[in-house]
Amino acid sequence: MATAHTVINNFTRKGFRMLGHGCYAAVFDSNVDPNLVYKVGVRTSDPFLNYIQEPSLVNNPHFPRVYDIHVGEDWYLVKMERLEPIPEHKLVVSNDISSVVSDDSYTLKYLAPSHELFSIAHQIREMAEQLDVKLDLHPGNIMMRGVTPVITDPLCDHNIYSEWELENWFGQKNKKSSYPDWAY
Ligand SMILES: Nc1ncnc2c1ncn2[C@@H]1O[C@H](COP(=O)(O)OP(=O)(O)O)[C@@H](O)[C@H]1O
Ligand SMILES: [Mg+2]
Repeated sequence: MATAHTVINNFTRKGFRMLGHGCYAAVFDSNVDPNLVYKVGVRTSDPFLNYIQEPSLVNNPHFPRVYDIHVGEDWYLVKMERLEPIPEHKLVVSNDISSVVSDDSYTLKYLAPSHELFSIAHQIREMAEQLDVKLDLHPGNIMMRGVTPVITDPLCDHNIYSEWELENWFGQKNKKSSYPDWAY
């Protein structure tokens, strides 16, 4: 039976380049289509899956374009548009978005407040409440489609840092790199 680890190992073994990873998912370049990536997640309870399936957001420019979702027993695979990291000199975008989503009193420094931004922010707050999860709006979870910021991964479990993390797995993998793949 496939597990998230075997799926991630297979992507790596077949030469897919990993573009990034967080605690619970690894994102691979499609190798063929420069506009596509594959995100492999290690838990099906990831609120990312709820977020990307929210029908009211599909036309929002700040929402990622998702083409396919496959949910396995304890992992998932999402085919989605390839986005770019926020450039160093525009990291303030992340503070702006975080503040609009948290609805605090901070004054926006970069973004023009738009109906679409307020609307997605409102939806994300509602989802956090309904699913009883936290907002997680740091620069790694906001990316760019050209000049448009896209909120890729705005929610996380309350216990994100107390559970087993993909970071640990990658850390161990690097340390024991002489072990065969099946050892992981
Ligand atoms: N659509 C995408 N295009 C390119 N890189 C991405 C994309 N989505 C995520 N990434 C990269 O992968 C990292 C981890 O993805 P993320 O969705 O934050 O998963 P996690 O649940 O592990 O935090 C991001 O910080 C980013 O560097
Ligand atoms: Mg993340």
